[in-house]
Amino acid sequence: MNRPDDPTPAPPSEAALRTLPPPRHGDAPGAWPLLGHLPHLAGRPLAFLDSLPGHGDVVRVRMGTRTAHVVTHPALVRRVLTDRRSFDRSGVLYEKVRALLGNGLATCPNAEHRDQRRALQPAFHPSLLPRYTAVMAAETQALTARWRPGAVVDVTEEAFRLTTAVAVRTLFSAGITPHAAEELREALEILLRGVYTRVVAPAVDRVPSPARRRYRRALARWRTGVAAIVAAYRAAGVDHGDALSLLLAVRDEHGRALSDAELGDQVATLVLAGAETTSSVVAWALRLLADHPEAAARLHAELDGVLAGGPVTGADLPRLPYTRDVVREVLRLYPPAWAVTRTAVRETELAGLTLPPGATVICCLYLLHRRPDLFPEPALFDPGRWADAGVPRDAWLPFGLGATKCVGDVFGTAEAGLALAAIASHWRLTPVAPRPPRPVPRIVLSPGPQPMRLAER
Ligand code: HEM
Repeated sequence: MNRPDDPTPAPPSEAALRTLPPPRHGDAPGAWPLLGHLPHLAGRPLAFLDSLPGHGDVVRVRMGTRTAHVVTHPALVRRVLTDRRSFDRSGVLYEKVRALLGNGLATCPNAEHRDQRRALQPAFHPSLLPRYTAVMAAETQALTARWRPGAVVDVTEEAFRLTTAVAVRTLFSAGITPHAAEELREALEILLRGVYTRVVAPAVDRVPSPARRRYRRALARWRTGVAAIVAAYRAAGVDHGDALSLLLAVRDEHGRALSDAELGDQVATLVLAGAETTSSVVAWALRLLADHPEAAARLHAELDGVLAGGPVTGADLPRLPYTRDVVREVLRLYPPAWAVTRTAVRETELAGLTLPPGATVICCLYLLHRRPDLFPEPALFDPGRWADAGVPRDAWLPFGLGATKCVGDVFGTAEAGLALAAIASHWRLTPVAPRPPRPVPRIVLSPGPQPMRLAER
């Protein structure tokens, strides 16, 4: 979505970038025979990741018999994400996700990308933001209405419940009963969780189990549910101004409309890209604020001053700069899309390394955002660092960049900010487990289960 409240900090300072030494390449040490670095990635994935910058700005990591090139230098991340003649969204990971959820904007290869982006971009036009923020505010209200003081909730699950509900209600704004919306949301939750398992361990689908039955039932419910909504939209022939109406109006150069299956794919990948990413920001923010009382106090002071106990709306967001900086800082420390992958489609050179066609490149936004030469005291959660905004261009890229830059960046930022403001203005959350969370690097860098006790403020 482009830009009523651009989430990219300004003004960018180029000084830090200019003084970076030229990128170096190296190899991660400690590879096992045959398995390579997989045992490190399985055992202590973040400790392993954190060790990589010591070996260069492009580090070769062996995943079994395959080699991945982990990139952490801002200039190289820019190169990989913008040089679309050398790098594409192909390779094993994308093939698997496409096989499971279909070929939508977030998963399609370069050759199809321009048409798909053109078709979907209008759904993220700034003029639609107020409509979306109204849904976000209402859904956050509905979520917290179920909370009781003294109860324990898993904020990771709660945030996911919120973002899947927002996704369903903003994609299909019309003709869907609350019951049908909840059924679809539930199916979606099972699907999104199941996709990851099936990408990393495809064998789970070959063995009968209750989880497999649940996944298949959810897939069937999702497909019939979406097909019924599509049929109702087609029959009504009305433009509801939402993503589904736009997709129904799309025609290719031969005048052909999308089939029901193609529509289902677009919708599923849109939600795949938007739901868990945003919910992870909300969950991390709630946990980090509980662990940093000074930041929580500043946030509470801002919310109390601006909202004066009233409900938050989209129109309040520009008046909540500290809330925005909390979201920025969470996106820096725990970027949900922590590893954006590409495959080299021709021989190309990167920091002195020759990559053959087929080479896997991982732009590790998590490590980019923790470079001490770009962010002083990078491991520190300090939303105040954004107040003077002296951050170099390309140092903070939670939404990627170039032609495939997140189409939902403003949507996701608004959703996280609204949820955080609505929750923090009325509730104080205390972690049940005092131990800091261990990030779980799956497709999204999630905090894992976060049980927290609720108290009214
Ligand atoms: C805070 C939340 C979010 C984060 C951190 C995030 C991050 C990203 C990143 C890094 C990319 C680039 C991927 C690449 O270049 O391969 C991306 C693409 C995308 N995102 Fe997001 N995203 C977020 C929220 C959303 C939301 C809410 C939606 C939809 C409602 C969404 C839809 C998409 C789509 C469709 C793409 C593919 C764009 C394209 O290829 O043209 N994202 N996102």
